[in-house]
Amino acid sequence: MRAPSIVVLTGAGISKESGLDTFRDADGIWARVRIEDVATPEAFARDKARVHEFYNQRRRGLLAGNVAPNAAHRALARLEEAWPGDFLLVTQNIDNLHERAGSKRLVHMHGELLKARCLHCGNVTPCEEDLAESRACLVCGQLGGLRPHVVWFGEMPLEMERIELALADCDLFVSIGTSGNVYPAAGFVAEARAAGARTVELNLEPSAGRSLFHEARHGLATALVPAFVDELLAQCGR
Ligand code: APR
Repeated sequence: MRAPSIVVLTGAGISKESGLDTFRDADGIWARVRIEDVATPEAFARDKARVHEFYNQRRRGLLAGNVAPNAAHRALARLEEAWPGDFLLVTQNIDNLHERAGSKRLVHMHGELLKARCLHCGNVTPCEEDLAESRACLVCGQLGGLRPHVVWFGEMPLEMERIELALADCDLFVSIGTSGNVYPAAGFVAEARAAGARTVELNLEPSAGRSLFHEARHGLATALVPAFVDELLAQCGR
């Protein structure tokens, strides 16, 4: 009898208690900035400097000394380490808090704030400084081609085949800190259910997909996630 396989999906809510803004809360990013101005290929074609500044501000905020993984990030790394079955963490977040907490079997389906992609040569390179049209690609040396390695609205998320395979085979799907508003991530719970998985939502409030979850626990991620991980590991004697 194989150990159950787990797929975890996280959203901005898991990083909120680390000091990073969510998108659709009252104090969220989209309450201050329009998606059409900073998070679409058309916005980048129209005003590169505006888009670079939006991500430069978020990159500086992420790298500020007071932003660190919280108990929820750490609990997921602990679960991955101790779990006897297959485990995949899919995050919609572009921050690096899961990695810094120790997660390894991790997919950033919406890209990563600390990476840049060159439109000339296609290479993705680490990026911890401000991006600008004047910056040259570290690989091909050309100017004017660097963009944040972030998936914009209207673009295809990353590693979807790997995610779909994991969902088709999972026994437990856990959604944490996401409002369930953006597809394809918002559709993962239905795919997991169709595969026969038990589905659990851990979120501050009911998400848009609440009715698709077998179980929902509402509260702060730093309280819900460690407790849930402790229960899971106790069930398998870890
Ligand atoms: N603990 C748990 N959940 C929280 C907390 C917290 N401390 N704070 C907020 N939340 C919940 C909110 O109730 C909300 O349901 O996290 C969710 C955040 O939802 P969104 O702001 O919509 O963020 P997310 O679901 O990750 O957005 C998905 O949309 O804009 C795009 O690319 C962007 O990846 C993002 C995607």
